[in-house]
Amino acid sequence: MRSVIDILDLNKEEINGLINTALDIIKRPKKYSKKCKGKKLATLFFEPSTRTRLSFEAAMYELGGNVLSVPGASLSSAAKGESIADTVKVVSSYADIIAMRTPKEGAAFVADKNSKIPVINAGDGGHFHPTQTLADLLTIYREKGTFENLTIGLCGDLKFGRTVHSLISAMSRYKNVKFVLISPKELKLPEYVKSTVLIPNNIPFTEVESLEDVISSLDILYMTRIQQERFDNPSEYERLKDVYILDEEKMSKAKKDTCVLHPLPRVNEISVKIDEDKRACYFKQVENGKYMRMALILYLLDKKNLQTNVNRFRDLEVVYNKYVCENPSCITRTEQELEHVFKLCEDNKYRCVYCDKEVE
Ligand code: NCD
Repeated sequence: MRSVIDILDLNKEEINGLINTALDIIKRPKKYSKKCKGKKLATLFFEPSTRTRLSFEAAMYELGGNVLSVPGASLSSAAKGESIADTVKVVSSYADIIAMRTPKEGAAFVADKNSKIPVINAGDGGHFHPTQTLADLLTIYREKGTFENLTIGLCGDLKFGRTVHSLISAMSRYKNVKFVLISPKELKLPEYVKSTVLIPNNIPFTEVESLEDVISSLDILYMTRIQQERFDNPSEYERLKDVYILDEEKMSKAKKDTCVLHPLPRVNEISVKIDEDKRACYFKQVENGKYMRMALILYLLDKKNLQTNVNRFRDLEVVYNKYVCENPSCITRTEQELEHVFKLCEDNKYRCVYCDKEVE
């Protein structure tokens, strides 16, 4: 079944195709207003969400389709202990496509393996968030006209920020892209993103703690929220929560055409005074997200694509039940009947196929 769990499930040509469709939807919305007539999108959101869920639902309505939704984890059978596999098998017989968000890393992957209909990962814990990346890509394309020759600063919670992980994967496929990773040392980019995406693709990156020191070099500044819900220790969150605040003084050092992005919700990371700055693109990003989700739903429901599969292990050797994943947020920790599957990566380390955590 053709699903999107990781942004790398879509190749560059497919991303270009989605961008072209989204641009056409913006130009001629009427042409698309009945394309999904009679189709149903199920939104399974087991974690808080405003934008992503409404954006999926608005996307389906604007395509003339319908939406089935579960009001939240506490009101669904997940609260009675139903597994992701069973939930998805049931939903597959009611709907045509699923958008799913859960706090468990690898849950969307498990959903896809058990589904008869396409699954879109709308965020799995601190792991991936590919449709936010589609919103980011359309915004970068509309603002910069290219994905090449860009210095991209990612600032804030790079450890738990799933949007950051997916954006890095996507941008690593374009020429002459450099990353400046700005975070406190406690919230640095996870090892697997460096070892399986940045290093093998020879992408230059630097890790720094100060935003002021690097802001003048950036073409894109991607601010993120410190992900309170993923901290084990509340005092650690209190200590780190306001570590970066983008204000007028810092913006005065940025380039004239730096594009400031943020997946939202914003807490304190960007002063509201910046909203008026023409370099602030985060509200445009929200709108772009809806168009890209429309394009993605159309693409996945197209009969030509429905039966194509993605080689998610990318030809890596896999081993079964040799190791147990140590990541407390991995789906294998709560769904104990799942097999423990590890892939042997290019750097000779085994990583969990669900959440990408390496074997220590
Ligand atoms: C992001 C998410 O859920 O990861 N929000 C979103 O989808 N727009 C970012 C966040 O919650 O900080």
